Amino acid sequence: MANENDGVRAVSWRTDVLELLDQRLLPGKVRYRRLTAAAEVAQAIRSMVVRGAPAIGIAAAYGVVLAARVRHAEAPDRWRDLIAEDLALLAAARPTAVNLFWALRRMGQLVERVETNPVASLLAEARAIHQEDIAANRRMGELGAALLGERSAVLTHCNAGALATGGYGTALGVIRRGYAAGLIERVYADETRPWLQGARLTAWELMRDGIPVTLLADAAAGALLRQGKVKWVIVGADRIAASGDVANKIGTYHLAIAARYHGVRFMVVAPTSTVDMSLNDGTAIPIEQRAAEELTTLGGQTVAAAGAEVWNPSFDVTPAALIDALVTERGVVLRPDPEKMAGMMAGETNH
Ligand code: MRU
Repeated sequence: MANENDGVRAVSWRTDVLELLDQRLLPGKVRYRRLTAAAEVAQAIRSMVVRGAPAIGIAAAYGVVLAARVRHAEAPDRWRDLIAEDLALLAAARPTAVNLFWALRRMGQLVERVETNPVASLLAEARAIHQEDIAANRRMGELGAALLGERSAVLTHCNAGALATGGYGTALGVIRRGYAAGLIERVYADETRPWLQGARLTAWELMRDGIPVTLLADAAAGALLRQGKVKWVIVGADRIAASGDVANKIGTYHLAIAARYHGVRFMVVAPTSTVDMSLNDGTAIPIEQRAAEELTTLGGQTVAAAGAEVWNPSFDVTPAALIDALVTERGVVLRPDPEKMAGMMAGETNH
């Protein structure tokens, strides 16, 4: 479909290796890494070769396939015991995005019940996780675009696009669909300090699709929302609690506060694999702390005063009360609360 060409794939299975687009090098270099072991996949997740909640889960699922191949060849009678170590290694790669644990649980359940050589069945399951994610994104694109209403500009944060998912994107899926339908005139993209997912990845993806994009410093978002031309802030999520509280890239929370103050609506787009009903509310979501160097250096050069202490949480939590619409592949939850979240997860309509 025009303007929805969505040609980028962050994660691909190629015959018998896992191929990851190295997102640390974008947009300057488009390089793919070929991985053949679970430990390499865990390291790729930790070091942000692959990032974005759904993409991390999909990469880990293929990581389990690689682990099964190695363990089954090494010890056909004991592969099930040995693979537990690989599952634990993958689970320890990053703490906040629940899609990682969701995908590993799904693969782990198959590990428990598979009878013969496990590689083919596990590969089929990993491929299903991947394809279901793309289908969910397409569905959410339709559902989210239907909420947009009058043609306007939108603001997004971080990268919740094809690069962060199996393909097409969550927030960028809604934006792709909304732009194709003539409902979005321009996308404003926060640069997203300190890792610059907005400047490096979102701008790159949207420009490839010919969607007008304007970058801004994260600190400029309040002033932009005050101008009145942005009607929706549209973001993805890394983990959503049973209350509807949403963990997403650091900076999302203050965008939600600024949006509410200025009467701009706030949409979160995420598949149900990002919902963690075991946590009552956002206070229980583990927040990853990342290295001080992400703040003290820029492009390899030290910029901070030597010895300055650093607080570098990678995510923050936006309370459900600040969210106007939560879009999942199972439906739209307006003004999420625990009851509506439970209904949506149970597959009921009209939330
Ligand atoms: O640290 P990252 O780049 O993995 O963080 C990614 C985000 O916060 C995204 O907004 C989120 O995973 C949603 S991706 C569809």
